[in-house]
Amino acid sequence: MIKIFDTTLRDGEQSPGCSMNLNEKLQMARQLERLNVDIIEAGFAISSKGDFESVKRIAQTVEKPIVASLARALEKDIDAAWRAVKDANNPRIHTFLATSPIHLEYKLKMTEEQAIERAVQAVRHAKKYCHDVEFSAEDATRTSVEFLAKIFEAVIDAGATVINIPDTVGYADPFEYYEFIKAIKENTRGMEKVDISVHCHNDLGLAVANSLAAIKAGATQVECTVNGIGERAGNAAMEEVVMNLKVRQDVYKVDTNIVTTEIMRSSNLLQNITGAKVQANKAIVGVNAFAHESGIHQHGVLANKETYEIMTPESIGLSKNNMVLGKHSGKHALKDRLEDLGYRVSDEELNNIFDRFKTLADEKKTVYDQDLEALILRDMSNM
Ligand code: KIV
Ligand code: ZN
Repeated sequence: MIKIFDTTLRDGEQSPGCSMNLNEKLQMARQLERLNVDIIEAGFAISSKGDFESVKRIAQTVEKPIVASLARALEKDIDAAWRAVKDANNPRIHTFLATSPIHLEYKLKMTEEQAIERAVQAVRHAKKYCHDVEFSAEDATRTSVEFLAKIFEAVIDAGATVINIPDTVGYADPFEYYEFIKAIKENTRGMEKVDISVHCHNDLGLAVANSLAAIKAGATQVECTVNGIGERAGNAAMEEVVMNLKVRQDVYKVDTNIVTTEIMRSSNLLQNITGAKVQANKAIVGVNAFAHESGIHQHGVLANKETYEIMTPESIGLSKNNMVLGKHSGKHALKDRLEDLGYRVSDEELNNIFDRFKTLADEKKTVYDQDLEALILRDMSNM
């Protein structure tokens, strides 16, 4: 099973327009538990009083998932993270340090040796509190495999239980990321004892593809967010990663613990809380993801859903697909909708209504049920 580490409430919440208050975070955390994510990253405890309180309340509220707080590789951050997560049934401290030359030189002003020392101190400090400690090498994809192997061996020796290899700036390409994860796995002593995690950003639109490539290379944990919210262009979208694994079992041969019928509810809740709406054509959860307007497609789907649907709407928690009636729709879909509305019409009546429906669709773009009722009623009053 691939572990789903949900960071909607930490990396997701860091994106403009997506911040949430305590109650909203609690509501979302309860929904993430129903969704059955393995890990909830509840926040960055030291970043604000509000964040600390949210992490603490989530840790006290959810029962099954691991609850993590982010912490820089600093004792004061790790202390705050522990105080926030310690009441959880399954607490985790997630500490991180950048490893790429550009971050070491300009942000941290550290040598590689100093970075290793700092990372080891951080993991050792976290281990005094908590068995479950994740170490992330920020900007890993712009770091050499050789240096990553060194720092990962050192933190594994210090007790890290999860090693995260983030594509912080969304720079990786799936083929390259696959080779990168494989090379790290093969060249790092102790990697077989820990969970290998990936955390991909979407700057080039490849966060989900990169996460899937990493799974193929041996990653066992994927960090992602509901609706793909997150810094800049966002993080890997949880629903896309999960449904790829489910629908393409033949390719990936691994699944997740996610209750997929809770996906739509989770997406809608987040959209309602933050006001950040997903685009209509968003994979899995966009309003058009299970909508069919063209006559050819509608005819196919009415005859056999699998002609144009590779997963069922029910599998993500929708009650049914959506046949949108517009200028591309055909007689089959119109007849079907009229029957749903309780009107049985002869072939001749259908031809008549269809002509007027097409004229209306050209004017209105989408023809709703009430428009159809009006057409039918006008037809009847002319009889
Ligand atoms: O993108 C990133 O590298 C992160 C780390 C803190 C895991 O969010
Ligand atoms: Zn991130």
